[in-house]
Amino acid sequence: MSLTGAAKLAGIIGWPVAQSLSPRLHSYWLNKTGIDGAFVPLPVQQENFSTVVRALMLAGFKGVSVTIPHKEAAFAICHESDLAARAAGAVNLLIFHDKGRIEGRNSDASGLGASLRENLAPNAIRGKSTVLLGAGGAARAVAVALHDLGASEIRIVNRSRGRADQLAAALSPHITPKLTVFDQSDWPKAANGAALLVHATSAGMKGARSLDIALDPLPKTAAICDIVYNPLETPLLKRARAAGFTVIDGLGMLMHQGVPAFEAFFGVAPKVTPELRRYLEKALASGT
Ligand SMILES: NC(=O)c1ccc[n+]([C@@H]2O[C@H](COP(=O)([O-])OP(=O)(O)OC[C@H]3O[C@@H](n4cnc5c(N)ncnc54)[C@H](OP(=O)(O)O)[C@@H]3O)[C@@H](O)[C@H]2O)c1
Repeated sequence: MSLTGAAKLAGIIGWPVAQSLSPRLHSYWLNKTGIDGAFVPLPVQQENFSTVVRALMLAGFKGVSVTIPHKEAAFAICHESDLAARAAGAVNLLIFHDKGRIEGRNSDASGLGASLRENLAPNAIRGKSTVLLGAGGAARAVAVALHDLGASEIRIVNRSRGRADQLAAALSPHITPKLTVFDQSDWPKAANGAALLVHATSAGMKGARSLDIALDPLPKTAAICDIVYNPLETPLLKRARAAGFTVIDGLGMLMHQGVPAFEAFFGVAPKVTPELRRYLEKALASGT
């Protein structure tokens, strides 16, 4: 990569950020397209978020991808936002426009939607009941994606019931599927007849224990998606694959959420290809 003085600049802001695959993803596309630009990791602590964003705007950055713990703070500083961002109350993409105007988007939702469309039959979810495990930041984006795919119901199951209730209350003005909260102990009821299960807790991430839920209450025809992508095959997906369910890993969501970001930063819509997937799988396997 060779940069000129006119290179377009963008990055990912988070704390920590060293584990993020986004610099790999955007650098891959920059190399493919030959664009004069760079995408850099920006490790920034919570209390410095808005100062750093202002400084990046002054330094001519085109925008930033946003990860934990800044997604809600990023939403709060936007002058305009898309429906997914408003429903989620969080953004993962800030685009810097002229005169200090900041646009926020939540492309986690569209990224998951694109990944599910790629892996499931058309209308596989339309009019169907779905189950969402988790009620954190990512779960909000998942709910928006399920709304976009036409699910009739989202059954929310979370370790802390209160957080699931809050999620349902926050989402209900924005999305159409019926939102039903189940206690974890009612998991078999939540799973009954569901067309899709999306796991959106941080359990099962590298170094964290996996959720120990039984899969037999789900219909054999259900698909199981885990948005955790490190490890790529989580213990949940491993069990699901062995039991014969259709499985979808979290890398598709990650790749697709990067598409609108790259286009906004660098002016070209990049492609999600099997070669890109292999490249990122290799990066994940090598732990870099
Ligand atoms: N593929 C992608 O592109 C993509 C994008 C965004 C996020 N993600 C992944 O999504 C996951 C969640 O991220 P987040 O931002 O939503 O995190 P978060 O806001 O911190 O929420 C964490 C969620 O996990 C639950 N949880 C944590 N440990 C648990 C355990 N041991 N047992 C049961 N539930 C547990 C929490 O339940 P409580 O409410 O009870 O604490 C909460 O619902 C992360 O692994 C992240 O990497 C992937």
